[in-house]
Amino acid sequence: MLKKTILIFALLLIGLSYGLEEYYGHNRESLVTSETRQNINAVIDGIKANQIVETFDEWYHQDVEMFENGNSDGRKGKAQNRIVEKNFADNSVIHDVKVLKLLVDEEMSSYLMFMNYTKSGENHASSQWGIQYWKDGLIIREEFWYSSH
Ligand SMILES: *[C@@H]1O[C@H](CO)[C@@H](O)[C@H](O)[C@H]1NC(C)=O
Repeated sequence: MLKKTILIFALLLIGLSYGLEEYYGHNRESLVTSETRQNINAVIDGIKANQIVETFDEWYHQDVEMFENGNSDGRKGKAQNRIVEKNFADNSVIHDVKVLKLLVDEEMSSYLMFMNYTKSGENHASSQWGIQYWKDGLIIREEFWYSSH
């Protein structure tokens, strides 16, 4: 009887501490931020798996605008950007992808990514910042900032 009571009491304590952890864990970071973090990690996993076009199709908004060092010529809307992404995927061999930093705040995310790839026979190994603006769980705007490729 006493053993049973102690067991039940112990289980209640474990349950309570688990519940508190869940409650405060969620309050430390908003649900929107958690969701954005999950989504950008899925995008990064897709890039690492060399699924550039598939990842683009799944995670980019119909009205996405993309910028290279502030320039979005030819990068307005999903159709234009898909051509650029497909051109990159079709002509590149990716050797290495490393995420060096990842920041997430509400519907914004940002990573510093090192990529080593050979495009049209030319090797590029450099890092760039990518900044993503999310809407309805999709990337609506993305900026890439780099000094050289
Ligand atoms: C890039 O990848 C190639 C092929 O694997 C390798 O030979 C080269 O050392 C890598 N460069 C850098 C800077 O990591």
